[in-house]
Amino acid sequence: MNYLSRRCRSILPYTAGEQPQDKKYVKLNTNECPYPPSPEVEKTLKEFDTGRLRLYPDPENKKLVSVIAQMHGLEPDNVFAGNGSDEVLCMCFPAFFDENDTIAYADVTYSFYKVWAHMYGLKSLKVPLDEEFKMLHTDYLSLDGVKGIIICNPNAPTGIPMSRLDLLKIVESNPDKLVIVDEAYGEFASCSIANRVDDYPNLLVVKTLSKAYALAGARCGYAIGNKALIDGLKLVKNSMNSYTVNALTEAVAVAALGDKKYYAEIIDKINAQREETADALRELGFTVLPSSSNFIFAKHKVLSGSEIYFRLKENGVLVRHFKSDRISDFVRITIGTSQEMKTLLSEVRKIVKN
Ligand SMILES: Cc1ncc(COP(=O)(O)O)c(C=O)c1O
Repeated sequence: MNYLSRRCRSILPYTAGEQPQDKKYVKLNTNECPYPPSPEVEKTLKEFDTGRLRLYPDPENKKLVSVIAQMHGLEPDNVFAGNGSDEVLCMCFPAFFDENDTIAYADVTYSFYKVWAHMYGLKSLKVPLDEEFKMLHTDYLSLDGVKGIIICNPNAPTGIPMSRLDLLKIVESNPDKLVIVDEAYGEFASCSIANRVDDYPNLLVVKTLSKAYALAGARCGYAIGNKALIDGLKLVKNSMNSYTVNALTEAVAVAALGDKKYYAEIIDKINAQREETADALRELGFTVLPSSSNFIFAKHKVLSGSEIYFRLKENGVLVRHFKSDRISDFVRITIGTSQEMKTLLSEVRKIVKN
């Protein structure tokens, strides 16, 4: 007897980047932040009253929601917090789409979108990136029969952003469609349209504290948008699990979001390190896409993506390789500390030279 639903029998789940426990790698495979979270986070954890763990957390995470609202110049009614932005993005599917609706997204983008579409019975319309791996806004202006659009901006795994102006043209020309903008890497770029959610009832922006805020292990993400959209997400959440953001996560997230200066500094460091690394890789025969994220996507003129991935891994450096169409020649490399990038480049040099 097979007790699985037909849907589960046919689904191909998302493969998360490796989190190896066997040995210590220079870990550049899941776009985590190479620096620790703000010192305010450590202080908050040290001072946290463990007695509070006896109780359930605030199901509405009012403190966190109000800090996020303030940060974006919005009302708490415009904010929905969740257990990582993956959870928030996933909840968008049952909240806003019905079975057999069509959702559009780029052919090369965050591969979880197609898994959620499948999970909730949606059809996917894949919009090809151009030959330079850019998203063209003109491809999204007249999509027939589509109920929603998801745009990852800057895109992953390419790192390439779409300009704010072009993105707004998509939102404006599709008032009948929900446009979800996944800004997981938005802090490293200057393409965020988070400050425009008030102007467009069809725009939902999803963000995370996993990348720029160095809190991947705490699991915190959020959506901002029109109250009606936020209410839709709350409906789904309250039909699944009342307590998605735990008390410890809420406390550390509030502490992190309060320390703008610390994060501005580490974002600058990561962006500078990215440019340095990209230049060095170009000198070693790589094509490096112009990234505005905390990672780069690069392919070598001779060596295959899988060869680079395996040989780096053998030598203790973990990067990400995707076997998918169009991108199997590339590896995605998270920007680490300057020491980690030195190690990466010295290992790459050895591979390229023999
Ligand atoms: C484009 C994109 N969106 C969303 C996420 C999910 O982030 P989290 O669930 O950690 O907030 C990731 C994580 O790698 C990502 O790359």
